[in-house]
Amino acid sequence: MQLLLLPFLLLLVAAIRSDGSPRAVVTLEPPWFNVLQGDNVTLTCEGFQFRGKDSIEWFHNGSALPIHQDSYNITAVKVEDSGEYQCRAEGTALSSPVKLQVSRDWLLLQVERLEFMVGDMMILRCHSWKSQPLHKVTYYQNNTALKFDHVIFNYIVSSVNHTHSGSYYCQGNVGQTSLKSVSVDITVKDPNASTSSSSKIWFYILFYLVMGILFAMDTSIYFTLQREVSGSKKNTRHPLTRWR
Ligand SMILES: *[C@@H]1O[C@H](CO)[C@@H](O)[C@H](O)[C@H]1NC(C)=O
Ligand SMILES: *[C@@H]1O[C@H](CO)[C@@H](O)[C@H](O)[C@H]1NC(C)=O
Repeated sequence: MQLLLLPFLLLLVAAIRSDGSPRAVVTLEPPWFNVLQGDNVTLTCEGFQFRGKDSIEWFHNGSALPIHQDSYNITAVKVEDSGEYQCRAEGTALSSPVKLQVSRDWLLLQVERLEFMVGDMMILRCHSWKSQPLHKVTYYQNNTALKFDHVIFNYIVSSVNHTHSGSYYCQGNVGQTSLKSVSVDITVKDPNASTSSSSKIWFYILFYLVMGILFAMDTSIYFTLQREVSGSKKNTRHPLTRWR
């Protein structure tokens, strides 16, 4: 019976190997990819077991940074801090790049990313320079003012669909001054319509094929052993059908 576990163990090993070493992940805190000059941003390298924090490496636009900690705090970001950040630790693959865009402006419409999948949650945040108090905030999509349905201050859509694609900006008052942010173009994609789904299907076909072969091999080994065992005890041979 232990032999029946073999295919599962082999598959487990194969699954771990196919992904290579675990991949580090860079996260932003606060989560907005676009910030204003002077904001504080913390980048964290996570998603793996640390084998020693000294081994952590950070890259900005592909160049190594002199930082070897799991979190990288940028107090008062500058425009030059814009770009792509990656990290890795000993035994992990380089993370996917995470983009940070720093602009010099009075008002900014912040988002976590520019592309969303149908069903994702989307949060828009109207943010003023040095977080000065904002009044009369209005969010616009394609020049149409959005109703403050689920809003306290941020504009939150709990589950996006195609109608949420478009160009967004916000407007608000700092003191008596009315300010308007630049537009941010957001795209909502359908995961089922992407080409990646066909490669997923091939993965499953291959997965079940390999599983089937391993199971067949395993079963035949099992019956061969069974035959040998019962063959050695000639007088107590059982019909094979008993094991089906
Ligand atoms: C970065 O900031 C976070 C929270 O603001 C803090 O917990 C962490 O210790 C800081 N890390 C460094 C390296 O200063
Ligand atoms: C990194 O790349 C971004 C965008 O390409 C650029 O704005 C920024 O100045 C670059 N910074 C450094 C230090 O290379």
